[in-house]
Amino acid sequence: MEPATFVLFGATGDLAKRKIYPALYNLFVDGKLAQPFSLIGLGRREWSDELFQSNVEQAVRQFSRRTPSDDASLRQFVSNFRFCVLDIGQQDDYRKLLKLVEQREEELGLPDNRLFYLSVGPEFFEPIASNIQESGLGSARGWKRLVIEKPFGHDLQSARDLNRKLSETFAEEEIFRIDHYLGKPMVQKLGALQQANPVIQALWSNRYVANVQITASETVGVEERAGYYDHIGAVRDMFQNHMLQLLMMTAIHLPHESSSEKVRFKKKNVIEAVQPLQKQDVRAQVVRGQYAEGSVQGKPVAGYLSEPGIAPDSRNDTFIAARLLIEDSYWRGVPFYIRTGKRMKEKSTRIVVEFKEPLAQATVSSEDRAAPNLLIFEIGPNEGITLQINSKDLENKGEFRPVHIDLDLHDRQEDVPEAYENLIGDALRGDATFFAHWDEVELSWQWVQPILDAFEENLVPLQTYAAGSYGPAGSDALLAEDGYHWWFDV
Ligand code: BG6
Repeated sequence: MEPATFVLFGATGDLAKRKIYPALYNLFVDGKLAQPFSLIGLGRREWSDELFQSNVEQAVRQFSRRTPSDDASLRQFVSNFRFCVLDIGQQDDYRKLLKLVEQREEELGLPDNRLFYLSVGPEFFEPIASNIQESGLGSARGWKRLVIEKPFGHDLQSARDLNRKLSETFAEEEIFRIDHYLGKPMVQKLGALQQANPVIQALWSNRYVANVQITASETVGVEERAGYYDHIGAVRDMFQNHMLQLLMMTAIHLPHESSSEKVRFKKKNVIEAVQPLQKQDVRAQVVRGQYAEGSVQGKPVAGYLSEPGIAPDSRNDTFIAARLLIEDSYWRGVPFYIRTGKRMKEKSTRIVVEFKEPLAQATVSSEDRAAPNLLIFEIGPNEGITLQINSKDLENKGEFRPVHIDLDLHDRQEDVPEAYENLIGDALRGDATFFAHWDEVELSWQWVQPILDAFEENLVPLQTYAAGSYGPAGSDALLAEDGYHWWFDV
């Protein structure tokens, strides 16, 4: 990794505090941050360098997975952090920023490699990119990169417009679109597990897989984000990005030797092969839900419409479940079920691969029936892999009994790097494997667009579900139509 300057837009914001500084600190402790490392934090507040540094120290103490062992290491970590007051729309401020970046490059003997991290609202992406261009900040002889948070667009058209605008300043190889689900360690291992294990590889197709279930359930409600969430809904907030990325990462078939380009090309192949939906068919394949009052982990909670800041007649989706079919030779005929929602029973992100009937069940008596084999990837909050196989219960009439083989990947959960650590480290190294390529983003919006249209026109009924449940009845019915059920809903 070459030393670089990290230019952080939104340096006083919540994401920086909770995720970015702790991630950088952990990279620093692991010796994964090339030295010298210069960070310029930007914001509108009139912060001094000292105030900025002490805020970063505090954020690390509060949110880092590793507690700093001594003040000296933390001091050393923040010593090259500087703050620059910047108004995003003010061209003069960018020239001032350029001066500071150059001055620090000179003082530290840094090559002019610059990473611009946009931890700001999407309305600022375009003006920042064009001001980087106009001010000369982006005309370094070293490399330049743009790291950009979601949401990347609001629908297909706005995503295309944004991309066109950004590409006036940055080439596709220079744009690192963050989808933090791609930074989760288990998601990063999905492709490799299948690629490096002939046992899994051999089973990874419609010959043996009956269906795949991808769930990301949350217990939290809309929280303090009513203004944002009520216009976005689960479909834009989670489905178009995180959930479709999980689908691509699960269905991918990687060649033995794979590069960043190959991984992203193969992912593109998957999303391209997903059977498109027509607006009038959405109702049959997609379930739209909104939470009503209920109780989550023993605590009574309000329904969505009574949440502060939510329009009392809002028809926004807080839950979505969908059936997707991948029309390629590997997956033809295997339904992929995806669901995600707020205020559900548990916080869990999990992929369950259900294999086809283990025995010719039609011909055996009911006592001799065996449960299907399942391969379960726990992505969060804890990670793990479980294989469900059948054994014989010798004490109980010799019936088949499912048993679980659990793979413990880490002795301690705090040893697992956080998503942001993986992603920021990769961006600094220039490895784009776990960032969303424009093709994937565009194809995802393209697939989702008829759903947005159908929701907008109310072509899909809005089903309510009690807070603390696994979603509306329609979600169970979607699988029941095919003779399946969601695993592990208890
Ligand atoms: C974010 C969404 O992208 O992901 C949030 O905007 C959601 O609404 C969050 O809560 C979930 O992330 P994680 O890592 O907690 O599963």
